[in-house]
Amino acid sequence: MIVKPVIRDNVCMTAHPVGCASLVEDWVGRARASAASMAEAARAAGKPLPKAVLVLGCSTGYGLATRVTAAFSCGARTLGVSYERGPGAEATASPGWYNNRAFDREATAAGLYSCTLNLDAFSDAAKSAVIHQARVDGLKFDQVIYSLASPVRRDPRTGILHKSSLRPIGKPFSGVTVDPFTGIMSEVSIEPGDEEKIAGAVKVMGGEDWELWVEALAEAGVLARNCVTTAYSYIGPEHSYPIYRYGTIGRAKEHLERTAPALTARLADVHGSAYVSVNKALVTRASSVIPVIPLYMVSLFKTMKEMGLHEDCVDQIQRLYRDRFLAPGAIPVDEAGRIRLDDRELRYDVQEETTRRMREATEANLAELTDLEGYRRDFMQAHGFDVPGVDYSADVSLM
Ligand SMILES: NC(=O)c1ccc[n+]([C@@H]2O[C@H](COP(=O)([O-])OP(=O)(O)OC[C@H]3O[C@@H](n4cnc5c(N)ncnc54)[C@H](O)[C@@H]3O)[C@@H](O)[C@H]2O)c1
Repeated sequence: MIVKPVIRDNVCMTAHPVGCASLVEDWVGRARASAASMAEAARAAGKPLPKAVLVLGCSTGYGLATRVTAAFSCGARTLGVSYERGPGAEATASPGWYNNRAFDREATAAGLYSCTLNLDAFSDAAKSAVIHQARVDGLKFDQVIYSLASPVRRDPRTGILHKSSLRPIGKPFSGVTVDPFTGIMSEVSIEPGDEEKIAGAVKVMGGEDWELWVEALAEAGVLARNCVTTAYSYIGPEHSYPIYRYGTIGRAKEHLERTAPALTARLADVHGSAYVSVNKALVTRASSVIPVIPLYMVSLFKTMKEMGLHEDCVDQIQRLYRDRFLAPGAIPVDEAGRIRLDDRELRYDVQEETTRRMREATEANLAELTDLEGYRRDFMQAHGFDVPGVDYSADVSLM
């Protein structure tokens, strides 16, 4: 079948199997190229490289970049969990499904252990399956990475399906957004979320499930001594606080952040610790559906690229490992105990220039003033399209 992108409401319904595989190969190559410097950082810090890493949300975006870094920069055995759609007779699989296959292929070829489970990570069944697999294969995780992004979560205790939505709290939020595919700018207004919406976001994207995972893994004895667990978060610039940090999703991220010290206490018997890592805004399947954010992102990308500061998921996670996990002494954190990889994004000069671009942007100057093209390319590539060297006119197997 010849696979083409089908995009509706900023969601791409198709994925290109060869393009996805090619992008994973590219990420693997980049991770491999830094293996020597990663080993050197570990040696200089007197810290071991991770040997066994569990990545929850391993198939795309930050989770995939983490798995690739753990395996190919550090030589770790990786177990990944994600929830992806397989292919049908006429329908492509989701990009993460193809990415997982490409990752497993690359790992096997390199002689690295990898096991990928396609399961609802919020379920008890997923936790039991990981524990079973870890016991069978003799894995004791020295890192557990929590990189799930989902609009829904079924609570395994009650069976209730909770929904997360992105809303301001208290009053409506209005802002200018851009459709990255048409370049059309418009004013959007989002009604505030009530207590039910806040509770839904916290239930899905807060720390409850992270805690259930750590509890189950610790209880089963599959965590190594000095185990580190890390969940990813976002804060963003002040002008987005009403819709993000002070909104429903911000409440969820605050809950996630409050969960970290409780998990560190839970892991005391294995000398473990839990961190939240605040990462940079990037185009992933999860972030591309956030309203208003595209105008900020295209302005930010242009600014950071011009200043030589831009990073993608792999660059961010490489920095997480080399400069944070493998830093000499304690892992560097901010005053609230969080790892900060958004330090460059939130630099005063970066934000000042990004804000200027957002203020001056019109449909006529958008192409020069912002990185609309880079955003589009990142979005397409996250679905296996627009990847250099891939023949998109060729017939491909959806399997
Ligand atoms: N993209 C950004 O700009 C950004 C910035 C900072 C932090 N983050 C955070 O990073 C984390 C990952 O986000 P991302 O942008 O990489 O998202 P993504 O959409 O690329 O990845 C989400 C992952 O979660 C998995 N997943 C979703 N529901 C699942 C379920 N029920 N069971 C198992 N797996 C499931 C998906 O399969 C996928 O592997 C999130 O916590 C997000 O808030 C993202």
